[in-house]
Amino acid sequence: MTTPFSTLIRTASQEQHTEAETSTFMTDLLGGRLGVDAYARYTEQLWFVYRALEDGAEVLRSDPVAGPFIQPELFRTAALEQDLAHLRGADWRAGLSPLPATAAYAARVAECARDWPAGYVAHHYTRYLGDLSGGQIIRDRAERAWGFARKGDGVRFYVFEEIGNPAAFKRGYRELLDSVNADDLERQRIVDECKRAFDFNGAVFRELAGEFPISA
Ligand code: HEM
Repeated sequence: MTTPFSTLIRTASQEQHTEAETSTFMTDLLGGRLGVDAYARYTEQLWFVYRALEDGAEVLRSDPVAGPFIQPELFRTAALEQDLAHLRGADWRAGLSPLPATAAYAARVAECARDWPAGYVAHHYTRYLGDLSGGQIIRDRAERAWGFARKGDGVRFYVFEEIGNPAAFKRGYRELLDSVNADDLERQRIVDECKRAFDFNGAVFRELAGEFPISA
C-alpha cells in the first residue's frame, strides 16, 4: 500500500504547521496581546496572496492538474475586501502595501499559476485547507478580541458561506489530492512547494511580528 498523497503532504508539512501556529505573531494575535490594527495589517497581507491565487484561477480551470481544484465556493477575495472595508474604511485600497515577504509570496503564487499548475496546487492546498481548518479557531478568537459580529464584517474571510459541511468538503478535497494528475516525482515537487508555501507564511509572520512588537 502506498501512502495517499493527502497524507504525504500533510505529514511533510506538519512540523512547519506547528511552527506557524506557535509563531510569535500568531500567538500574540490569538492571545489577545495585539490591537485590531495588527489584525487589519495581517488581513491586508492575505488580500495580496488571495488575489494572486484567484486571479490565476480562471485560466487554470481547464488545466488537467490544477483544474479540479478550482472551486469558486472557496474564493476569498470578495470576503477579504468586505473585511478590509470594515477594518480600514471605504478607501482601504489607498493605504494598502504588501510587506516584502508578502510580495515575494504573491509573486511565487502568480508564477506557479502561470507556469507550473502543479505548484499552484501546493499553494492552493496550503491556504484553503488551512482556512477551512484552523481558520475557524482564528475567527472565534478575533470575534472575541475585537468585538466583530459573529461571522460578520471583519471575519468574513473565515466564513465559507457556500460550504455547508466543511468536514465533508475537506474529505472531498483530500480525494482530489489523492488523485492529482501527477506522477511520483511531480508529487514530490508539489510537497516541496507546499513546504515553500509554509516558509512564505512564516516569513510574513516574522515581518508582522517586527512591525507589531510586544513590549514585555
Ligand atoms: C494559529 C494558527 C493556526 C491554527 C490554530 C491552525 C489549526 C489547524 C487545525 C486544528 C488543523 C486540523 C484540521 C483537521 O484535521 O481537519 C489545521 C489544518 C491545516 N492547517 Fe492550520 N492552523 C493555523 C495556522 C495555519 C497556517 C498559517 C497555515 C498555512 C498557511 C495552515 C495550514 C493548514 C493546512 C494546510 C491544514 C490541513 C492539513 C491537512 O489535513 O492536510 N494553518 N490547522
